[in-house]
Amino acid sequence: MDNVIEVKNLNYQVGQQKILKNINLQVPRDAYITFIGPSGSGKSTLMRIIASMLNATSGEVLFNGKNQSEYEPTHYRHKVSYAFQQPTLFGRTIKENLEFPYLVRRKEFDRSLVTQYLEMVNLNETYIDKSVNDVSGGEKQRIALLRNLIFPPEVLITDEVTTGLDTENKTIVRKLIDQFNKERNVTVLRVTHDDTEISEAHNTITIENGEIKNV
Ligand SMILES: Nc1ncnc2c1ncn2[C@@H]1O[C@H](COP(=O)(O)OP(=O)(O)O)[C@@H](O)[C@H]1O
Ligand SMILES: [Mg+2]
Repeated sequence: MDNVIEVKNLNYQVGQQKILKNINLQVPRDAYITFIGPSGSGKSTLMRIIASMLNATSGEVLFNGKNQSEYEPTHYRHKVSYAFQQPTLFGRTIKENLEFPYLVRRKEFDRSLVTQYLEMVNLNETYIDKSVNDVSGGEKQRIALLRNLIFPPEVLITDEVTTGLDTENKTIVRKLIDQFNKERNVTVLRVTHDDTEISEAHNTITIENGEIKNV
């Protein structure tokens, strides 16, 4: 069994509040898992722990069979990439954002490849030189996701990334994520409240009150 991520007996507690309780989870490589459940149930906390942005109180997260703490943090984040609900673009231009994945890898910005990526989300080359203030919320989310995907991670975690987007933007974002899952073997962990996404999902896990609900 080839699991890219394994979560074992994981607990997360803040003071007396048990936010995650004995979570056990196996994520097969190339899976596309949709996490659902009430607001405040612990979904984002679990995703942040898997993304190594937060440390569990006890238990472990394995990535490719090794404890996540054994990886160099920057390397881990390149492999397990977290996309936020509220994306923030930094700096002045879109270029600074799309150049960032190249900078951190000490690679040369590849304008023609970035243009191809922009076209995957119905944007074009002119966006590279636009100001971050001149793009809409939906465009921002698409550009932020490209930042996660220009160098495809092994695991992409999307935390309510379509919340607040209009139908057209939701469709574009979903198509992009589906494409990376199917064609680039990116394993996807998606948190969503979107009815369409939930009804179309093949593999869902419900988190309730800090626990995985057994169906
Ligand atoms: N650092 C923290 N300190 C205190 N409470 C927290 C902290 N992080 C999360 N929580 C609480 O943990 C619970 C789960 O939050 P969250 O993971 O954001 O849920 P979801 O994403 O399912 O809406 C909530 O009750 C939230 O208030
Ligand atoms: Mg959340």
